[in-house]
Amino acid sequence: MYPVATKRCNCCPSYMLLHICICLLVVGLSSGMTPPRPGDIASHTATAIPREEKKPPPPKSANKGRHEVDFIINSGKPMARSLQEDEEEVQQSIQTVLVVSADGHPDHFPTVQAAVDAVPMWNYLRWIIYIKSGTYVGTVFIPEGKDYITLLGEGADSTVLTFNRKACDKRPDGTKFTILDCPSVIVEASYFTAKDITFENSSPKPADLDYDSQAPAIRISGDNCAFYNCNFLGWQDTLYADQGKHYYVGCHIEGNVDFILGYARAVFESCTIYSRGEGFITAQSRWCKDDCPGTADSAFVILRSNVTGYRLAEYNSTGTGLTYLGRPWREFAKVVFIDTTMGEHIAPEGWVDWLTDTGPLFSHNSVYFAEFGSTGPGANASARADWSHQLSDEEAEAYRDVTGFLEADTWLEAPPSLEDLMKANLLQDESWGRAVALEGHNSKKFPPRRWKNLSAKDQTTP
Ligand SMILES: *[C@@H]1O[C@H](CO)[C@@H](O)[C@H](O)[C@H]1NC(C)=O
Ligand SMILES: *[C@@H]1O[C@H](CO)[C@@H](O)[C@H](O)[C@H]1NC(C)=O
Ligand SMILES: *[C@@H]1O[C@H](CO)[C@@H](O)[C@H](O)[C@H]1NC(C)=O
Ligand SMILES: *[C@@H]1O[C@H](CO)[C@@H](O)[C@H](O)[C@H]1NC(C)=O
Repeated sequence: MYPVATKRCNCCPSYMLLHICICLLVVGLSSGMTPPRPGDIASHTATAIPREEKKPPPPKSANKGRHEVDFIINSGKPMARSLQEDEEEVQQSIQTVLVVSADGHPDHFPTVQAAVDAVPMWNYLRWIIYIKSGTYVGTVFIPEGKDYITLLGEGADSTVLTFNRKACDKRPDGTKFTILDCPSVIVEASYFTAKDITFENSSPKPADLDYDSQAPAIRISGDNCAFYNCNFLGWQDTLYADQGKHYYVGCHIEGNVDFILGYARAVFESCTIYSRGEGFITAQSRWCKDDCPGTADSAFVILRSNVTGYRLAEYNSTGTGLTYLGRPWREFAKVVFIDTTMGEHIAPEGWVDWLTDTGPLFSHNSVYFAEFGSTGPGANASARADWSHQLSDEEAEAYRDVTGFLEADTWLEAPPSLEDLMKANLLQDESWGRAVALEGHNSKKFPPRRWKNLSAKDQTTP
């Protein structure tokens, strides 16, 4: 019998108030001015931009002069993610490069948060926050409305954003954090991308059967977000793909319990999914069957990935010693593994119920867990839960079409590489990035989506 899961932390209403306060305090900077410097931030904090004053969306630009980027691994249909052909176009699509470093350089921001604070609200040009190698200890919060931010590191193993807060740790006022506000990094903005960065929650491993120590490295609640070559490190609930459409490619995701969780419509392509100990890989939380507000087709698709982790022979903790592909956090949880290698640590049943003291919480008919093309020692389908699905090659095809599945042709593009920024003269070593400030030109803006209601509902615990 599998251990009974205890209840999760509830969403705390005071978190919402905190969030609103932060939004109201956020700085506005008009486009066309020189880039903000670290010391400038304080002088701008007095001006809050009310929501009504946000700029009208500029017309959508045509995809001219674009080409496929080699970095993209997807071997399915051609994708829209691409970089501009020449320097001029790179400049036109990027507003500003801000540099973060830990080396005390006067032109660099000392923390990622300080750089984020300098990006204007309701921005619609891409801002690159270039984070030099180093371990940055602290939280980062990117609020809704600070769209089009890219965090670009110097390498996933050398640029590390880390903190160590758990849900159920105490805030200074004595109340408890929740899974919503304890992550090391929180992204509520849309069109966010990150490349070559480690996101970590360094809280220690929870005790066996302690299911109340959620410690996400990141929560992403924005729409149309993409992660390239990033590491996500933690134990329980490492990668909280809360809501919106997300694409993760070439990433390394580590944890033990429910370490890819949430309600997003997300594709994880060519990723390494590494179990640090027994538990559950996914805890998907699709909570309505049709007409889901916010994210219709909420589902996790793990595509052409490597599900690996601890060696069974060395496993000497209590419990079953096995890891499940997933358990349903919500009634209509949907997870599909396509063309993926699975290690010996995967339980033969593959999938397991969300258990409570009174039995399984959800019906096998409402939950949808499926596989196609699994290989490796954990792939044997003969003992899989009889309520899970083995797809046909034709059925799997819909999930291999990443562009179609994520409606990505309207939003997905690769973040510029360091080399591109240098070439376009946007970044010189040891120097401050310079603004190109071509107002409204060649930028994309789609209507913002409102998630607040959904978040609150989604966090109601079973
Ligand atoms: C999966 O990852 C493990 C651990 O890093 C590695 O030993 C193995 O070769 C990988 N398998 C594939 C198919 O890439
Ligand atoms: C097994 O126990 C040994 C000794 O306590 C420890 O060093 C090792 O990391 C454990 N292995 C696992 C997979 O937990
Ligand atoms: C798959 O598992 C079944 C029993 O669960 C076993 O009889 C069969 O030999 C296994 N197949 C492979 C290829 O390991
Ligand atoms: C919140 O939900 C209610 C009822 O579903 C809806 O009428 C309202 O528009 C929503 N508000 C926002 C901000 O999404």
